[in-house]
Amino acid sequence: MAEISVKILSETQARAELARLSVLMAAAEAAYYQADAPKIDDAAYDALKARNLEIEARYPALIRADSPSSRVGAAPVSGFGKISHEVPMLSLGNAFSDEDVVEFDVRVRKFLSLERAVSYTAEPKIDGLSLSIRYENGALKYAATRGDGAVGEDVSANALHVSGIPHHIDNAPEVLEVRGEVYMEHVAFNALNARQAAAGEKVFSNPRNAAAGSLRQLDASITARRPLAFFAYAWGAISNPLAETQMQAIERLRDMGFATNPLTALCETPEALLQQYRRIERQRATLGYDIDGVVYKVNDLALQARLGMRSTTPRWAIAHKFPAETAWTRLEAIDIQVGRTGALSPVARLHPVTVGGVVVSNATLHNEDYIKGLDSKGSPIREGRDIRAGDWVEIYRAGDVIPKIRDVDLSKRTNPEAYTFPKSCHICGSDAIREPGEAVYRCTGEFSCEAQRLEKLKHFVSRQAFDIDGLGAKQVQTFVEEGWITQPADIFTLRTRHGAALATREGWGEISANKLFTAIESRQTILLNRLIFALGIRHVGENSAMLLARTYQSWQGFKDAMIAAQPHEGAAWDELNAIDGVGGVMAASVVDFFHTEITREIVEALVAELKIEDILPADTGNSPVAGKTLVFTGSLSKVSRAEAKAQAEGLGAKVSGAVSAKTDILVAGEKAGSKLKKAVALGVKVLTEDEWLALIAETR
Ligand code: IVH
Repeated sequence: MAEISVKILSETQARAELARLSVLMAAAEAAYYQADAPKIDDAAYDALKARNLEIEARYPALIRADSPSSRVGAAPVSGFGKISHEVPMLSLGNAFSDEDVVEFDVRVRKFLSLERAVSYTAEPKIDGLSLSIRYENGALKYAATRGDGAVGEDVSANALHVSGIPHHIDNAPEVLEVRGEVYMEHVAFNALNARQAAAGEKVFSNPRNAAAGSLRQLDASITARRPLAFFAYAWGAISNPLAETQMQAIERLRDMGFATNPLTALCETPEALLQQYRRIERQRATLGYDIDGVVYKVNDLALQARLGMRSTTPRWAIAHKFPAETAWTRLEAIDIQVGRTGALSPVARLHPVTVGGVVVSNATLHNEDYIKGLDSKGSPIREGRDIRAGDWVEIYRAGDVIPKIRDVDLSKRTNPEAYTFPKSCHICGSDAIREPGEAVYRCTGEFSCEAQRLEKLKHFVSRQAFDIDGLGAKQVQTFVEEGWITQPADIFTLRTRHGAALATREGWGEISANKLFTAIESRQTILLNRLIFALGIRHVGENSAMLLARTYQSWQGFKDAMIAAQPHEGAAWDELNAIDGVGGVMAASVVDFFHTEITREIVEALVAELKIEDILPADTGNSPVAGKTLVFTGSLSKVSRAEAKAQAEGLGAKVSGAVSAKTDILVAGEKAGSKLKKAVALGVKVLTEDEWLALIAETR
């Protein structure tokens, strides 16, 4: 087709042209990213992209579900190589008040059984995205984003364009992974947005998004034109310790050429931490970059090592967040969303308003009671003021969390009618039931409810679950709407059932279809914990899925145990409940899931398509307790109970709260009572605290 000016394209022509551009660009991208053999040059590609954007701007209603502008401009995740972090990239627990900070210090000292004060560092929490840069013998090997903490994206070429990151370091340890935050200064952000707007390109809503969008560019020359900066504040794998304290380690990183934050201070008491927090908060507006709190870290690295980590956060650090920003706006309507477990979640549709640099148009309303002005115990919140359509409401955001409503202005209320929560599902018409003791109404339609099915499938492909490149929520929705997918197993038979149809579909073509099927097939081998999480069992989040996977290790083991378990009785039930972090409610939910015919069938069909990888206990060297089940009882005198438990788990043992025939070792401290008796009766091996410490000392 000759290139007609976009200004005079008819709607029909525009639709055809968008389809043509989508195909052309998909082919060009496939050649560029996969075959590494570009078919057209960058300028030609950019011209296609600009034309596509121009048509989309003129005919927004015609924007395709698979629009190349969303494919390229947004997160082109599939284009990056993946890098496994040798040491996981952690996130931080949060403190919101002075009391939380004092409690953090108490927790740290209690874990370490220390009476004396512990010193900490305090430094700004930079609002950017974290990056891990690996050096081998001083040479920059690669740089990777955090990703899910275990696997990130290879952005090495881009990291070379970030200031504050040396390309080579002298006198470096053989292996050194430096971690820190990539961010964009306000001046650079404003200039970038001005350029973007002038060029008719997307403007970024805040510096953090701009930094993320700029670092995660497949074309590093784009990153080079976006001024990004970096602060180093931590490290991952390392062949020799950097120093003895956090403060000295940061100084060493600075000496090696990394930018480090000048507001990092050493504090000897929790009070000193709070003083530094206030000092940083006073400077917040004039720093020239965004920060969203202050991070406290135990200064002594030997103590950091003893404290170790929980599943995703270290015990030795915490983020003290600044209070959330707020704004007032009008609540236009209350809508209901059906979740994957059938929960009906009320959502406030808001007149768009900017809160903390982000435009907000939805806020969660939690549940019926919250709307009425009651908390989960029936006590008043907002002094008992209810929320109605048409009200003026105060919105707040804390960090990345979904916006919430803090208050309502009754003086501006015009709606005479309080909100009544629906008693049936507006999607499938089934009854919605609120069980006694529960806060939420649930649609009882289960798999017959289209909305629930769709949400379960979206969860299934989400990033922490199957994470299939090219099969995100939007694409799943399209396939569900067409009836190509109704349950997870269908995803893996798509190629056989609809491969040919997809390849000839408008905007798809053979290459894109193949790319999708290859991505799907590469996920047929899946880690047990991801599978468990993906099943979407109520109350089973990412961490619990990992706990279950570590305990049962194989799919067969897990499934058999859940089928053997009967609620509230028997050995299988006891074993499930003995897992630290698994409570009665979660246990009941998992058992119920495996005892429900329809979910069992869906799971069996899925599993038939998969190869499930076992979760092996952590690499525990010559650990004498790997795979063993331990129970601690009585009071320990040399280490706290929490530290003993963490040590044992670090050595690959399972620590349980109850003695049973499956217990291998009981460690009995002073004044051990009934558990010791039971262990003796069952013939379980019993160790004193000293014997235990001697046993694990062998592994050091
Ligand atoms: S320390 C093991 N220090 O905050 C410790 N993190 O909410 C890992 N962040 O994922 C983090 N400024 O991306 C640390 N001064 C700072 C930080 C910081 C920003 C980010 C980091 C982390 C997230 C956790």
